[in-house]
Amino acid sequence: MKIAIGSDHAGYELKEYIKQILKEKKYPFIDVGTDTGTSVDYPDFGIKVAKLVSDGETEKGILICGTGIGMSIVANKVKGIRAALSYDLYTAIQSRKHLDANILVLGGRVTGKGLAEEIVKVWLDTPFEGGRHKGRIEKIEKWEEEYLGKS
Ligand code: RB5
Repeated sequence: MKIAIGSDHAGYELKEYIKQILKEKKYPFIDVGTDTGTSVDYPDFGIKVAKLVSDGETEKGILICGTGIGMSIVANKVKGIRAALSYDLYTAIQSRKHLDANILVLGGRVTGKGLAEEIVKVWLDTPFEGGRHKGRIEKIEKWEEEYLGKS
């Protein structure tokens, strides 16, 4: 499973840490930046990762900013993206089981490295349950088709 990963300056340190986990778990990844702790704008990196996932270049994405909120807002504007901000293991697990989230969002100023590591591992390992949850996602997709078109 290939993963796109990106952050702003506030998520840079955690992004670098998570890249080590991806390497250890042998997940191939594309890092869209940022590459330093110098101040940048989160939408620039959020859109890059969301587009890679939306276009099928990678199966999943991981985004990190200070709170995770800015990255969630921007990623969820892109068609086909279900970005889930997770501050704990339960929401990370549920976002996969029930929502088939294709982007995990973390808050670099909120979540410590140890918890973030567990969140990433469980999120990548948890499959979508399908069933009744599939129809709900199809409703979102139908809305996207009708109102967003081929954006
Ligand atoms: C950057 O200072 C901060 O606003 C950004 O990382 C993020 O928290 C936005 O949601």
